[in-house]
Amino acid sequence: MTPNIRALNTGFVGEVSGIDLTQPIGPEGAAAIEAGMDRYAVLVFHDQRFTDEQQKAFSQNFGELEHTAGGNVTKASEKRLDPYMADVSNLGLDHKPLARDDRKRMFNLGNQLWHSDSSFRAKPAKFSLLSGRVTVGKGGNTQFCDMRAAYDALDDATKAEIEDLICEHSLIYSRGSLGFDDLSPEEMAMFAPVRQRLVRVHPVTGRKSLYLSSHAGKIIGWPVPEARAFLRDLTEHATQKQFFHSHAWQQHDFVMWDNRTTVHRVTRFDDTQVRDMRRTTVAGDRETVAQLAA
Ligand code: OGA
Ligand code: MN
Repeated sequence: MTPNIRALNTGFVGEVSGIDLTQPIGPEGAAAIEAGMDRYAVLVFHDQRFTDEQQKAFSQNFGELEHTAGGNVTKASEKRLDPYMADVSNLGLDHKPLARDDRKRMFNLGNQLWHSDSSFRAKPAKFSLLSGRVTVGKGGNTQFCDMRAAYDALDDATKAEIEDLICEHSLIYSRGSLGFDDLSPEEMAMFAPVRQRLVRVHPVTGRKSLYLSSHAGKIIGWPVPEARAFLRDLTEHATQKQFFHSHAWQQHDFVMWDNRTTVHRVTRFDDTQVRDMRRTTVAGDRETVAQLAA
C-alpha cells in the first residue's frame, strides 16, 4: 500500500490517506511513512480502529517501543493498560474519569505544557503515536510546533549562543512549574534530571531543531532564574502562529509525531467526559549530549 500524503496549512503536518494501519504494511509502507515523518514531522491518519496489539505492532515498524516505567506517578497496580502503552486518558481502573483532585490527574495536567515526550529520559523518545479511542467534542486538541522552522528563524547571534548549551530535564521541573511538588523520595529518585542539548541535529535530514520542553529546568553553568527566563523566551518564539498546528480530534484519528523536531501539548477540556487516548512511543537510540557537533 502506498499512502498518499497531503500537506496541511503550516506545512509540517501531513494528512495521510489510503492506508489501513491495523494490518501489516510491509517494509515499503513503513519506509514511505518514515520518509513522510522526516519530511513533515507530524502525520495525521483518520479512521484507524486499532486494538492495543495492532497499535503496538504498527509502532514497531519504526523501532523498539519505550517502556512507560519512570514516566508518571501511577503505580503498576493502578494501570489500565499494558506497560508499553502510555495511558494518556483521563480514566481510572474503573474506566471512569478521575476525580478532579486525583493525584494521577493532577500529574497528567502537565501535558497541557509544551513538551517533547520523554525529554526527561537520557535517551529520549523518537516517535510518539497517539490513538483517539474516545475523543471529546470540545477542547482536548493536541497542538504541535515545528522546532526546525523555529530554530531556522532565530537570529545568528542567538544561534551562536545556544549552539552548545546543555539543559537539565526532569518531570520534577515540569510538574513543579504547575505547583505539583508533593513527590515521594522514590519519585524524586525516579525523576532524577538528565542532560539534553538545546540544539539537536536530526540523524536523517541533518536539520537542526530547538530542543525545548517544559521538563527543561536548568541550563548547565547558568543561574536558574536566568535559564528559566531564557527558556521561556525561546518557547514563546518557537510557538508562534507560523510554526503551529492544532489537531481537533475525531474518533479513531491516529496522530504520530517526531519528538526530535516538534513540541506538543493538549488543550483544556471538560474532564468529566471520557477521553480515552492511548500512546505508543518509539524509543530513541542515542543521548543528545553524545551528538556530534554538525
Ligand atoms: C502525549 C500527550 C496529548 C493529548 O500523548 O504525549 O502529550 O492530546 N498527550 O492527550
Ligand atoms: Mn506528550
